[in-house]
Amino acid sequence: MALIEVKVPDIGDFKDVAVIELLVQVGDTVAAEQSLVTVESDKASMEIPSSHAGVVKALKVALGDKLNEGTLLLMLETGEAAVSVAAPAAAPAAAVPAAATAAATAPAAAPATAPATAATSSPVQVLVPDIGDFDEVSVIEVMVRVGDTIKAEQSLVTVESDKASMEIPSSHAGVVRQVLVKLGDKVAKGSPVVVLDAVAGVAVPAPAAAATVANAPAQVAAAPVVVSAAAAPTADRTPPTAALPPHEPAAPKGALPHASPSIRRLARDLGVPLAELAGSGPKGRITQDDVQGFVKNVMTGAVQTTAQKAKAPAAAAAAGGDAFPGLLAWPKVDFAKFGPIERKDLSRIQKISGANLHRNWVLIPHVTNHDEADITELEAFRVSTNKDNEKSGVKVTMLAFMIKAAVAALKKFPQFNASLDGDQLVLKSYFHIGFAADTPNGLVVPVIKDADKKGIFQISTEMAELAKKARDGKLGPADMSGGCFSISSLGGIGGRYFTPIINAPEVSIMGVCKSSIEPRWDGKQFVPRLILPLSLSWDHRVIDGAAAARFNVYFASLMADFRRIVL
Ligand code: COA
Repeated sequence: MALIEVKVPDIGDFKDVAVIELLVQVGDTVAAEQSLVTVESDKASMEIPSSHAGVVKALKVALGDKLNEGTLLLMLETGEAAVSVAAPAAAPAAAVPAAATAAATAPAAAPATAPATAATSSPVQVLVPDIGDFDEVSVIEVMVRVGDTIKAEQSLVTVESDKASMEIPSSHAGVVRQVLVKLGDKVAKGSPVVVLDAVAGVAVPAPAAAATVANAPAQVAAAPVVVSAAAAPTADRTPPTAALPPHEPAAPKGALPHASPSIRRLARDLGVPLAELAGSGPKGRITQDDVQGFVKNVMTGAVQTTAQKAKAPAAAAAAGGDAFPGLLAWPKVDFAKFGPIERKDLSRIQKISGANLHRNWVLIPHVTNHDEADITELEAFRVSTNKDNEKSGVKVTMLAFMIKAAVAALKKFPQFNASLDGDQLVLKSYFHIGFAADTPNGLVVPVIKDADKKGIFQISTEMAELAKKARDGKLGPADMSGGCFSISSLGGIGGRYFTPIINAPEVSIMGVCKSSIEPRWDGKQFVPRLILPLSLSWDHRVIDGAAAARFNVYFASLMADFRRIVL
């Protein structure tokens, strides 16, 4: 047994590269060539392999540490005699042929030549620069499109070899006229990447070979000027892994997030845990869209990070911990102490709807306005309509009229037919109305699609069908999606007023209780009228109290005199 030091091998021109991932921990058994840490520079990331097999006894670097050739990474217990391993010298696996290192560093020296005079408004073909020892690398991300205005040095594509990914920068500023590569293409030094309409007057230092071509103005009109993308390759743009031997990926972390340096940086800046993202790029690579989509989903509450889940009030409550800091823990009671009990699992619907209701209640600043509608005439009309249509088998309830009234009110107050999406309000021009249905397994909200285009009979028929499907547990996701506004009617049961919870991402919901005969003053006397209690909950981020009061007044006026709906 021997304790050896594992150090960073020759990593070409890379200096002070930051550790962005630790791939092993104390106690891990690692194979020779297994990746130990991932480091990252401005434009490339790479994995540093172990020179020996053994057991990790001590880690000598932490996330964020800056590494150079020779930096001590970890202490490894091996079966060999104790040696200090400076990878290139002592470890054959990490030994770097001198030529490879030289090749890797070559581009840094190359651009010392005179600036190219290709800076005209002529088309310029941008080529893959000298990328060290890489023969062929795959294009895994195309970062520009035709018409994009780009700066010199802006990354054009990301390429990837076995162990490193790097971004290929543009040598010129300009407007992209043609993109010459696509995802999956193999490129090498000299492969054309894009054709640019270069911005006039920008002199770009370019490698000698490219400058030669660029200096041939006679060819400019006929063909794009050819210059290398490596206008000014910096040391860290040289792929260091060209100087590293091939090695196996870290076994214990087979699912390492696969992302380019700029995406890693973006994720770090936004606090996105890359390990929790599924990459949509080639080979599961995480793209900018994946990161942005994840952030959006977290912000809208559609997903939670593992850290958030761990802190979720429900989880904390279930664990008996604090739901929120400063709040008392959820009471843990031995109910059986007080009398006989039975434990029953929540139904699948209860679990799903419970989680949604909880999120909506906690995240949406709810306000509820109560009002009432005089539905005396409408109820008389409904009863006579049902009588006339007894044979049709379609029974019209007050809910069908309320769905039509809701459509009219949404048309008049469009901010109620909206959803929040980040800093934007999505205003909808369609009218899909959900209604809460009570089922033996819990609450569901089927949706009547395009209620604005349907009559009372059709709405009543669809409602009956959807309510039956709901009770039979046969509603599919399509039956319950796309709602703009919901109505929760307890009218068939009873009650007076309640606070319905908004069905996100909708911004309002109408709660209705049982109508009853009440005395109303007609200017001369009290008369008996049928009064329908209304409770409108609304999202105060989108709607204010005055708008909500107006919505209720208008809704009630339609219910009081349904002829207004055609005005
Ligand atoms: N006032 C007085 N009576 C009412 C009424 C109201 N606001 N709304 C309905 N009724 C009457 C109906 O006319 C019907 O009477 P009838 O049998 O004499 O004709 C009776 O109540 C039952 O109506 P219902 O079958 O419930 O029909 P509906 O169209 O009103 O409601 C559902 C259909 C599916 C929405 C309803 O059955 C349901 O599930 N409601 C519960 C919703 C819920 O749980 N909300 C709470 C969410 S937190």
